[in-house]
Amino acid sequence: MLTKIGQKVQSFYNKTPFPDYDLNRFNSKKDLEIAMYTFAKIIDRSIPKDASIIDVGTGTGQLSAFLSLRRKNVYGIDFSDSSLDKARKLKKKLNLKSWTLKKVDILDKEQIKKLGKFDYVLCLGVLHHTGNAYKGFKNILNLLKPKARIAVGLYNTFGRIPLKFRILSSKTIFKNNQKIKDYFIKMQIGEVEDKERARGWWNDQYLHPHETTHTIGEVLRWFKKNNINYIQTVPSSSLFENSEIEIAGVWNSFKEKYPNFLVRCYKQLEWIFKTNREGGYWITFGKCIS
Ligand SMILES: C[S@@+](CC[C@H](N)C(=O)[O-])C[C@H]1O[C@@H](n2cnc3c(N)ncnc32)[C@H](O)[C@@H]1O
Repeated sequence: MLTKIGQKVQSFYNKTPFPDYDLNRFNSKKDLEIAMYTFAKIIDRSIPKDASIIDVGTGTGQLSAFLSLRRKNVYGIDFSDSSLDKARKLKKKLNLKSWTLKKVDILDKEQIKKLGKFDYVLCLGVLHHTGNAYKGFKNILNLLKPKARIAVGLYNTFGRIPLKFRILSSKTIFKNNQKIKDYFIKMQIGEVEDKERARGWWNDQYLHPHETTHTIGEVLRWFKKNNINYIQTVPSSSLFENSEIEIAGVWNSFKEKYPNFLVRCYKQLEWIFKTNREGGYWITFGKCIS
């Protein structure tokens, strides 16, 4: 049984699936590879070929589809029928046999438990739309095998401030100014030919019925309480950024230090400016202790 927020969010994504794409653009597996953004390629390189993966809140599924190209067992779960329909069309068109799609509500522990256990659990840009991010987080921990890796992507309370101003201005002073709105979306995803993708992004960032924001400290506490070892964040939460993700991968951190309270405050103030383009989005990577 969905919560009131769940019903609203589900109906929103049924009308405007995310990230969305024009299916005609994907005629071969190669097209999928070419269309993938740099960070997805880093995630792909960070995960061994024989690992099982679940992408929780996969939306229209580009990332999980892409990850399934080199692997035998990749799941994408979501509660939006329209998003899953689009993903299923892509699966059929490209014959992606190792990609399993399932309709699941993240806040429903029993549904989650039926999915089994995975080596890698990705939950990117989802929990902040559930109405109970911590409950969603706790539920998806049931998907982790011993020593499995997890990635949680959320909106940062500080980093999202500029976007909140842009949302406000798009609803007031720039309400009828399409050029400014186009400029706002271009700031986040650059120049795109794919109109469905641009529309998906606009709706997701500017017209969403429900979102919450979170701090680094909050996620660190979630990790600690649930026996997840902190690895790193992207962008980095280290004072001296020594990012080696291109080489070492996102679940291997050699130089990242656990960010203490002062460092977290400093970094999050910095993120107001630095994550402005991403709308304050950041990802925390961790590893299950047992
Ligand atoms: C912003 S999209 C993120 C899609 C994808 N992870 C990405 O990064 O491109 C959020 C997705 O989470 C899904 N979602 C939100 N709440 C959910 C819930 N309670 N159960 C399952 N999926 C949910 C939505 O349907 C939507 O597809």
